[in-house]
Amino acid sequence: MSWQRLKNLPGGSNPQPLSVVIGHRGLAARFPENTLVSFAAALQAGASMIELDLRMSADGQAVVIHDATVDRTTNGTGLIKSINLKDLQKLDAGYHFSTDGKTSPFRSCGLTVPTLQQVFEAFPQAHIAVELKDDSAALIAEVYRLVKQFGRFDRTLIQVFSIKSKLGKSLRKLDERLITGHTTSEMVLFGTLSRMRLSALWRRRSLILDVPVKRGRLPVVTGSFVKAAHRRGLMVLAWTVNEAKELERLYKLGVDGVYTDDVAAAKTIIEQLRRRYSDGAAR
Ligand code: G3P
Ligand code: CA
Repeated sequence: MSWQRLKNLPGGSNPQPLSVVIGHRGLAARFPENTLVSFAAALQAGASMIELDLRMSADGQAVVIHDATVDRTTNGTGLIKSINLKDLQKLDAGYHFSTDGKTSPFRSCGLTVPTLQQVFEAFPQAHIAVELKDDSAALIAEVYRLVKQFGRFDRTLIQVFSIKSKLGKSLRKLDERLITGHTTSEMVLFGTLSRMRLSALWRRRSLILDVPVKRGRLPVVTGSFVKAAHRRGLMVLAWTVNEAKELERLYKLGVDGVYTDDVAAAKTIIEQLRRRYSDGAAR
């Protein structure tokens, strides 16, 4: 029951802050999110792990896409759950991507919405955080089937904070080899108890706390939160962090890792922070 079970996670055993840098949707600042090129670029830039979003297609395939529809990221329209994989993969997943708001350099380059299976095949060694986006027992069963088939128990972190708690908990019961994070309600309870200095009462289900830096306007990742998490042996991974100032704040709090849209830029900033705080003042 621990992040140490994420075998050989780059940065995972390093006690320095922000030693785990996770490519949120790949290298989404520079490449179309949740595509194979975006994942390859994040790994090339030195990501400890890549993060992706999963939904279920009409014909029961686990497909890698963030929104419930294809509209924002592809040249198609419609709900993922009403489109078969064959038709989904005819769409251009690079169609709308632009870094300048004017040009679309990845349009018609053949980028598609990948399946989880294709990601596993393309990156056999990579650590991957898979975020379940659909409240679907069938999606859970399919992810479990693929993790088992590809022998990826020790390289897959299954995030369950976007789905109903009951479903997230049901996943844990499938196989003790599965590594999951916590559900939203579990994490909210941890936050509440840590504010009351009662986090020792909280029941830990995994050693990973995957948390947003804020919930609405309320800060989640605070000094007392990180201290309480570390007292309980939890690794704190905060999302989604792209600003130098926020990276510095999290670094000073001793947060273990971040999800970021630009792994290369974040790593450069973290290196600078290491040099600036090399006297050990940050932790
Ligand atoms: O993994 C955390 C983060 O990805 C959750 O936010 O909306 O980008 O999926 P979102
Ligand atoms: Ca996500």
